[in-house]
Amino acid sequence: MSILTAPENNTPLQSLDEVEDFYKQRYPEPMTEEQKKPSVGTDPNKKVTEFRNYEADARPTVREFYRLNHAHQTYDFALAKRKEYLGLNRRQMSIWEAAEYLNQLVDDSDPDTDLSQLEHLLQTAEHLRADGKPRWMILTGFVHDLGKILCLWGEPQWAVVGDTFPTGCAYSQKIVFPRFFDANPDSQDARFQSRNGIYAEGCGLDAVNLSWGHDEYIYNVCKDYLPMEGLYMLRYHSFYPWHREGEYGHLLNDQDRKHLKDVHDFNPYDLYTKSHAKPDAKALRPYYEDLISEYFPTKVRW
Ligand SMILES: [Fe+2]
Ligand SMILES: [Fe+2]
Repeated sequence: MSILTAPENNTPLQSLDEVEDFYKQRYPEPMTEEQKKPSVGTDPNKKVTEFRNYEADARPTVREFYRLNHAHQTYDFALAKRKEYLGLNRRQMSIWEAAEYLNQLVDDSDPDTDLSQLEHLLQTAEHLRADGKPRWMILTGFVHDLGKILCLWGEPQWAVVGDTFPTGCAYSQKIVFPRFFDANPDSQDARFQSRNGIYAEGCGLDAVNLSWGHDEYIYNVCKDYLPMEGLYMLRYHSFYPWHREGEYGHLLNDQDRKHLKDVHDFNPYDLYTKSHAKPDAKALRPYYEDLISEYFPTKVRW
């Protein structure tokens, strides 16, 4: 079999953490207040250079992951996955059950140094709690990556994690590894080549078909139960081209502009709170069960 026809390895990453570590490599520090201001322009050429460096430093596994992600996340794929999953007819589980279910996700991460999925959720939530954040935000931290259960349902890594980006319009050059989009069939589709593509200027992100992943899925699971601020944190926490690069301003509406702040507030807790001190899930469970019951019904549709 030639290399061109060989089936693709859909699990290039040894562990999903490799993608999170790569975010941290690209964005080693939390954003400053100055950087969060939408109108403050940074030198666009400098950004491109920095991105090339990140690309050069990326592990081959991470590079391969983004190659697959950019080649296969088409407009039609993202739409089809919404249809497949967003009826939420797979099963009914409590939030805590979903966290334990996700924790079965076994990959080749190092159990001595890497956090389990449940530990990452608890660490994120516990830092929010320690900083005196509102209860809904602590809970948002606890649920934010539960959408990664998509991996347990057979979805390839490239359809679960990684930066998300709008499909159906031109790709921003500030998306990591932009050249990998050359292999995406959408890059040949006449409808999608302009800045707005199929969208109306200022249509709002809710109308935009972002590439499919764990953010959109967990947002839909939670959308009847958490406040809008938390829902923005869930739905866009991997949309780095927007919240870290300031791209796609032409697709935003007033609501998106208002809630970008919430996505910014959440990001440091996701990216910069990892430590080797592992949270004690057994001891923390009663607190989280209590918090969950404040916002969610006993069984939630997945
Ligand atoms: Fe995530
Ligand atoms: Fe996370």
